[in-house]
Amino acid sequence: MPLPKAELHLHIEGTLEPELAFELAARNGVPLPYATVGDLRAAYDFKDLQSFLDLYYELTAVLRTERDFEDLADAYLARAAAQGVRHAEIFFDPQAHTRRGVALGTVVEGLWRALGRGEDSHGVSTRLIMCFLRDESAESALETLRAAEPYLDRIAGVGLDSAEAGHPPAKFREVYEAAAALGLRRVAHAGEEGPPEYIRQALDVLGVERVDHGLRCLEDPELVARLARERIPLTLCPLSNVRLRAVDTLADHPLPALLDAGLLCTVNSDDPAYFGGYVGDTFDAVRDTLGLTEDRLRELARNSFLAAFLDHDEERRAR
Ligand code: HPA
Ligand code: ZN
Repeated sequence: MPLPKAELHLHIEGTLEPELAFELAARNGVPLPYATVGDLRAAYDFKDLQSFLDLYYELTAVLRTERDFEDLADAYLARAAAQGVRHAEIFFDPQAHTRRGVALGTVVEGLWRALGRGEDSHGVSTRLIMCFLRDESAESALETLRAAEPYLDRIAGVGLDSAEAGHPPAKFREVYEAAAALGLRRVAHAGEEGPPEYIRQALDVLGVERVDHGLRCLEDPELVARLARERIPLTLCPLSNVRLRAVDTLADHPLPALLDAGLLCTVNSDDPAYFGGYVGDTFDAVRDTLGLTEDRLRELARNSFLAAFLDHDEERRAR
């Protein structure tokens, strides 16, 4: 029995397995510049975040209808449930779809067709977190938030993702203020490729409750002390960090140091179709490669529920 856990850093578009990409491409008549699943998998050799994002956005072209988004989310729920996930807080990137002519309603309604029955179908409760693309303008983020207003009963929070360098959190102050006024929870990617200052801005300017990645906090001991003192969760993604070359090898990953520093760390899969494993695989990999004890693994699983946007009763049921 895999350890029950929550997954808090998961991009639904990053769960698009090559086989499903080909199936959807055929169903929708979308040409793919890869002849076979093997050719596509061979392209999963990334040198940094941007080289991954280029392929990740390219493949979103196959997602066109509500049914496509439903199938994508259903496939994730099945894999996640098999690896012990009881609760998932799932990112989606509306601008990656609206900018190529797919309506926000198609995305949200399609995802919801699978997620809304996730507890019954797979024993997985879910929340949706709508991410703004930080390499798009602040105005575009605001337009996206306005367009999402009819769907806010299905959206728990907002996040910030895509290319980090040169796109500081402070650029999105206004849209985060508007999101807070609408009662949305707030998270942001920070300190994946960007400097510790971006983590401070995410906390102080955007008012985030969790930091996605946050790896580079280690360069700033005062920031580490603050994150520990304030019990700010980090949603770490060790396999992603290896594949996008934030660390050289998994054995070099600073997860043990972050735990030793008293941080509320969680372990997540980020874009599992691209980075070589779902969250249970990630737990296995950090156990085997970083030598984490069973107690440490249980701490990580417990942290995932503590850091989730669940109320007390929901949290007890999910564990
Ligand atoms: N980092 C930033 N943006 C992303 C990622 C990531 O790992 N995956 C999908 N969008
Ligand atoms: Zn991410």
